[in-house]
Amino acid sequence: MKHFKCIGGCTWWALCVISLLLLWRTAECQIRYTIPEELKEGSVVGNIAKDLELDVSSISSRKLRIASESSKQYFTVDLAKGELVVNERIDRETLCGQTAACLLPLQIVIENPLQQHRVEVEIQDINDNAPQFHKKEIEITIPESIALGTRFPLENAEDPDVGSNSLNSYTLNKNEHFRLNVKTLNDGRKVPELILDKTLDREKQSVYKLTLKALDGGNPVKSGTALIQVHVQDTNDNAPKFDQTLYKATVKESAGIGQSVLTITATDLDEGLNGEVEYFFAEHTVDSVKATFGVNPQTGEVTVVGKLDYEDVKMYTFDVSAKDKGQPKLEGHSSVQIDIIDENDNEPEIKLTSLPSPVSENATLGTAVALINVKDRDSGDNGKVKLIVAPGYPFKLKPSFDNHYSLVTDSLLDREVNSEYDVKIIATDLGSPPLTTSKSVHVKIRDINDNRPEFTHASYDIYVRENNPAGASLFSVSATDKDESKNALLTYSIADTKFQDIPASSYFYINAENGTIYSMNSFDYEKLKLFQIVVQAKDQGSPSLSSNATVHVFILDQNDNVPVVIYPSASMGSVSHQRMPRSAKMGHLVTKVTAVDADSGHNAWISYRLAEATDSSLFAVNLYTGEVRTKRSVSEQDDASQRLLIEIKDNGEPVQSTTVTVDILIEDGLHEPVSDFRQKASEKDKKNSKITFYLILSLASVSVLSLLTFFILLIKCARSSRGGESCCIRRDSDGYKNPNRNLQIQLNTDGPIKYVEVLGGDMMSQSQSFGSYLSPMSEFSDLTMVKPSSTLDFKDTLRGLDASLPDSAWTFECQQVSTLCCDFFHEVKLLHHG
Ligand SMILES: *[C@@H]1O[C@H](CO)[C@@H](O)[C@H](O)[C@H]1NC(C)=O
Ligand SMILES: *[C@@H]1O[C@H](CO)[C@@H](O)[C@H](O)[C@H]1NC(C)=O
Repeated sequence: MKHFKCIGGCTWWALCVISLLLLWRTAECQIRYTIPEELKEGSVVGNIAKDLELDVSSISSRKLRIASESSKQYFTVDLAKGELVVNERIDRETLCGQTAACLLPLQIVIENPLQQHRVEVEIQDINDNAPQFHKKEIEITIPESIALGTRFPLENAEDPDVGSNSLNSYTLNKNEHFRLNVKTLNDGRKVPELILDKTLDREKQSVYKLTLKALDGGNPVKSGTALIQVHVQDTNDNAPKFDQTLYKATVKESAGIGQSVLTITATDLDEGLNGEVEYFFAEHTVDSVKATFGVNPQTGEVTVVGKLDYEDVKMYTFDVSAKDKGQPKLEGHSSVQIDIIDENDNEPEIKLTSLPSPVSENATLGTAVALINVKDRDSGDNGKVKLIVAPGYPFKLKPSFDNHYSLVTDSLLDREVNSEYDVKIIATDLGSPPLTTSKSVHVKIRDINDNRPEFTHASYDIYVRENNPAGASLFSVSATDKDESKNALLTYSIADTKFQDIPASSYFYINAENGTIYSMNSFDYEKLKLFQIVVQAKDQGSPSLSSNATVHVFILDQNDNVPVVIYPSASMGSVSHQRMPRSAKMGHLVTKVTAVDADSGHNAWISYRLAEATDSSLFAVNLYTGEVRTKRSVSEQDDASQRLLIEIKDNGEPVQSTTVTVDILIEDGLHEPVSDFRQKASEKDKKNSKITFYLILSLASVSVLSLLTFFILLIKCARSSRGGESCCIRRDSDGYKNPNRNLQIQLNTDGPIKYVEVLGGDMMSQSQSFGSYLSPMSEFSDLTMVKPSSTLDFKDTLRGLDASLPDSAWTFECQQVSTLCCDFFHEVKLLHHG
């Protein structure tokens, strides 16, 4: 510890010599002590008393002391021992800094005698300081792309010690990327620097932690460390990368706008803007894709932005890119495939490949009418179509080849029932839910001449007055034909029959177009009473069809004939001469005027009347028989010559009349001719009564027959009225028109015949009708023959009669009842005419 020496530790003398040599000015020997710094207080530096060759015992009395120049008293003197002792901690670095030699000069003063000694204490350095960095943590930022070998200066460390104790070297912990280089500056400072040895990749390691150690040269070595944080600054050296090279997705074609389809994702290893990714369509993406889909730049979500239609585009493929926001931007690429899923969004479409052709109504089953094609733009089941004809049409569909059909007839057609059809065709696809369309196919049915013309009535009755003007329109017949156009275009004609050797065409003409019948001649009831003509209606079809109708033309009697006197003959002038005896009694038949009228019925109903007489009290004329009889006995005063003017009238409208003048010569004694006449008359009477007898007999038998028929019919009616066709007809006005009626007998409930009508059997040739009214009171001898003046009048008469009859009056019909009746009435008529 005590570590002092007289300079160099050499001998006193030697020291003195050196001192003398070097320091001329110093007369005395200079004492120097060398001590290390940082000694403990009380450490002895050296025995100063001894070194100054002073007596230890005297130093106290001589007041040895240290007169220090500095304020600090690092040393004191132990006066008892004469030792220089460390008083205070001595830090060399504080005293001398970096100066290599550190000397503390001390003035030692002693009194009695006053002496001054100079002592130097050299403070030796010890390694009491470690190297130190200003900052314990150093942060540096290095771009990752920086070149190899780039240097990064670091802060140097400092060590206040000097010499070998001062900073000696630096070390860096072992790492791959950096190495340390130490630069020595001009002033000797040692500065460390980092050199990049291996390229950095922020994406692998973004921060490096290095330890820099500064070492001094002391023993033991002291060191100081600093922590270096190297932040690797990102450069945009990574492109965004998609997680798939091809994205596949499906979307229904009904997807609405905004529907998400898929999300594309790209990652960028860089950080910050260099790692922020935005998504785009690739540069070359076609507009149609852009119009249909959108890419959200931020999220990468692909959404529907336009209308999808599987039928237009079944699949979309496009490229997408992801770009970062670095400078320059880097981008990655991928592809997207979106398959559109078909949905049943298209209705089937029915197309007529040929216009429907009209089909004949007699077409056989299976005749093709139209060709139909059906389409559905959807695919799969959605595009499969079932085609049917709506129920209720006589057509069906016959498939020909895929989706082609022919519409064919399925049953027999009748244009007259349905002239055209709007055939409803329904197409349904097999989608779910199925879609349906329908179409009407208009099919016209072509007419075939399969209907013959039909007259409104099977027969027509026309009543025409005789003496009608020629060329007058009589009647119109009309027929219809259910066919159409030419097949229904009718022409009318009259069949060429003959009436009394004269062809029908000379009597009648028919308008071929509308069936109006005209008379070609004036008719004479007295010649022909009934025409039965056959009218034919014929269509223009090919072959044509025709129908016949019978037209009965009844000629109605007109009072166009004047009664003609047939007896007495008035050929010689207009006066007939008769003779009678003067002896004639009252009621003597003078003569009988007989006249006939060519007309019929009322028009032929003749009455006789005495118009003028020389002596009207003598003669009377029977109104009905025309017998001229005396009213009283002839007397002698009566003139021999008498003249009678007898008027003969018919019952027509207007009345036709004629007269006959009868001159009567009353002769005296005339007998023979009278008896003759009488005999003749009685013979006639006999004959008359005989006929009357037959008449009664006939009528009685007819009555019995009628009653019998009546009961048979009654029983028959009673039976058949429960569902059969009635055989007895309640009398109606039409009954009178029926020309087939041959005999009508009307009976009152209480028995006697009231009215008998007999129509001639052969209508064409004979056509005679007779009617008779019988009053229940009347006797058979009073039977009056009535010929209808006209059928109309006749009907009126009957109607009047009808009114007077009880309700239960019945009409019976007897078809073809014996010619007996007819003959009988002929006779009656003849009788009447006398
Ligand atoms: C038929 O035609 C003629 C001449 O054109 C005409 O006078 C007549 O009135 C027509 N008849 C009918 C029923 O139309
Ligand atoms: C119509 O009458 C004519 C002449 O009488 C005859 O030739 C024809 O066969 C008849 N037609 C019919 C359908 O009865």
